[in-house]
Amino acid sequence: MTPSNHTTRRTQPEGRPSCASPNRPGQRHTPTNRHPHTHAWARKIRSFDAFVFVTPEYNGSIPGVLKDAIDFLYAEWNDKPAGFVGYGIQGGVRAVEHLRQILSDLAVIGTRSTVALTFAEEALGLEALLGRLQ
Ligand SMILES: Cc1cc2nc3c(=O)[nH]c(=O)nc-3n(C[C@H](O)[C@H](O)[C@H](O)COP(=O)(O)O)c2cc1C
Repeated sequence: MTPSNHTTRRTQPEGRPSCASPNRPGQRHTPTNRHPHTHAWARKIRSFDAFVFVTPEYNGSIPGVLKDAIDFLYAEWNDKPAGFVGYGIQGGVRAVEHLRQILSDLAVIGTRSTVALTFAEEALGLEALLGRLQ
């Protein structure tokens, strides 16, 4: 990807309902009865050659909104490479492992390496909180 043809976005645009797509898993052709918001999301994802997923970790996995954004589509993800950046108190590595597993169902080709960002200040905050509870 080059700076001119990549975009950065947070998932869960305003007003987007959770996944109500008529897609079935493994459906390679584009369904005609998609919702308008699914068409727009499909156009966006179709326009990219590769992805970098940046995800926090919540209770050992990815946020539900990211899962939902993935589940809306199928063919648009297929056969494209992806890199991964996880973050959180423990570096988001379990979230990225879950994400790799999910994306393997969508024939996304993951890079071998993961970037894991650990937020020490959050860990310190948690330690302080646990200290207060003892
Ligand atoms: C309910 C909850 C569960 C969390 N679980 C994890 C976790 O399992 N592993 C981890 O590394 N961080 C965990 N965190 C820390 C978040 O990943 C961290 O706060 C992150 O910065 C949130 O990113 P966001 O604000 O972009 O959503 C958790 C935070 C919350 C509030």
